Amino acid sequence: MLAEMALWLVTPANRMTRRLGLVTESVSLWARGQRQRKAWAGHHARCRTAVTETMEALRQRRTVVILGSGLLRDVPIHLLSANFERVLLVDAVHLPLVRLRMRFHRNVELVTRDLSGVMGWLSGESDRRTDPLADLAADSMVDLVVSANLLSQLAWPVEDWLEDHPAEAERLPADLPARCIAWHLDDLRRFAGRVVLLSDVTMTERDRTGTITDQLDLMRGVALPESDESWDWPVAPFGEEARDRESVHRVQAWRDFC
Ligand SMILES: C[S@@+](CC[C@H](N)C(=O)[O-])C[C@H]1O[C@@H](n2cnc3c(N)ncnc32)[C@H](O)[C@@H]1O
Repeated sequence: MLAEMALWLVTPANRMTRRLGLVTESVSLWARGQRQRKAWAGHHARCRTAVTETMEALRQRRTVVILGSGLLRDVPIHLLSANFERVLLVDAVHLPLVRLRMRFHRNVELVTRDLSGVMGWLSGESDRRTDPLADLAADSMVDLVVSANLLSQLAWPVEDWLEDHPAEAERLPADLPARCIAWHLDDLRRFAGRVVLLSDVTMTERDRTGTITDQLDLMRGVALPESDESWDWPVAPFGEEARDRESVHRVQAWRDFC
């Protein structure tokens, strides 16, 4: 707990990123990933395999862009760094642990950016979404883009914020969380290079008898094309969030999204 608090304090992030809970979420993800290393290993391995095999099939390996790079558990960062000329890690939060590790890779750059494009709109600094990927989508050197378990994460901070700020919410579209998901898919479709999309799409909670106690569409109704593969990610095994409840997410992978 102390380590988590210290990490929260020393992680650089702007005010809105903190207010939306993204620093807290990154720190919790780090801590939970340590506790659930074994349970999450299969999920991380499948993500890394999808990226590795896609990379191996590419003719050119100039720039690779990782969107939602976070703790880099689901991408083969050493392999990417060794095979591409340039590696861009894009996230709203880069924990100091990641910053430190990446210092040893000369061709890896950290880009701090809001990939929903709506933080300024929520805070009242702008009256519309800003395009978060205009520069990178226009860069013809980008041969591979990986959206690394980011998509589902674009909706909940906006949802929570709208709920906590009913007065400000009136000037914003009620379906903004779903729009954030749809916009990210549109953003990915603009890249000329290969795009790998990895995302959890549903959450299922069960009790110890196997009875489903809750289910959530993490895509908020946004339709997706058929994926290449899918698997379960035991995000919260029994005992993690509650003694008698587990939460499992269904993950889908698209190796050539656009
Ligand atoms: C489930 S984690 C992804 C896991 C990560 N690929 C890993 O291996 O650790 C989701 C990531 O999306 C990032 N994220 C969430 N909302 C974001 C936003 N609006 N802009 C940029 N990054 C965001 C979080 O900071 C987090 O690192």
